Amino acid sequence: MKNTVVTFMEAKKKGEKLSMLTAYDYSTAKLIDGAGINAILVGDSLGNVVLGYENTISVTMEDMIHHGRAVARGIQNALLVIDMPFMSYQTSVYDAVMNAGRLMKEGMAHAVKLEGGIEVCDKVKAITQAGIPVMGHLGLTPQSIHAFGGHKVQGKDEIAARKLIENAKALQEAGAFSVVLECVPAKLAEIVTQTVDIPTIGIGAGKGCDGQVLVYADAIGMFDDFKPKFVKQFGQIGAAMTEAFRKYDEEVKGGVFPADEHTYSISDDVLERLY
Ligand code: KIV
Repeated sequence: MKNTVVTFMEAKKKGEKLSMLTAYDYSTAKLIDGAGINAILVGDSLGNVVLGYENTISVTMEDMIHHGRAVARGIQNALLVIDMPFMSYQTSVYDAVMNAGRLMKEGMAHAVKLEGGIEVCDKVKAITQAGIPVMGHLGLTPQSIHAFGGHKVQGKDEIAARKLIENAKALQEAGAFSVVLECVPAKLAEIVTQTVDIPTIGIGAGKGCDGQVLVYADAIGMFDDFKPKFVKQFGQIGAAMTEAFRKYDEEVKGGVFPADEHTYSISDDVLERLY
């Protein structure tokens, strides 16, 4: 069944949990979609996982569009959400609407995601009024990593916790259809989830959220540059890949691969005439 923003809202009403994973390419998107995951996020974690940057700051609109289109071609049923990269929406309402529009027209997104609370609500409102669904992102917002001074759990004191709740309410008011809560205490995420009508999607925010998201490469044990506490590895695909690459190397160097079954033939007649 096709997932839409309406599916998201209905899931919350029915108390059904939502699943979301990131993807950055066609083949992975096809596998994730085939597994029945509700939404695929072309996250700007693309910067870390695919492009090898230390953080998400350098990711561009062109990067997001390029990978968004690839993922879109692998999707049949999942909702495709594409991240708005750093400085594609913070600068002005005009930039925000134009760039969200590009992610839809060129990146084939069904919805966009952007980071921040009250301070970005004018952009969220304008984008949604242009007919583009917006997913918010609160808590540890990686585009502000330098302002936070590192990867730290957010909303731990009363002022920060109240601010998080207010930000979630403001995003809902501005028209967001859903909100990601990253790296916040589970009890606080539960309060936010009970306070707003839109589904909360947690990452490091406990089981009380309406859904969960993980970076797919973390979830399958393929990316180990850093491993946050909230990551669970549902497979050891990185180790399986290394083993396959090692076997390939061994067989190439040992003259075992390619074997006859991997090789094309030519008739002896033709061959004789070549000498
Ligand atoms: O970029 C990303 O992958 C994200 C998720 C971690 C929510 O924003």
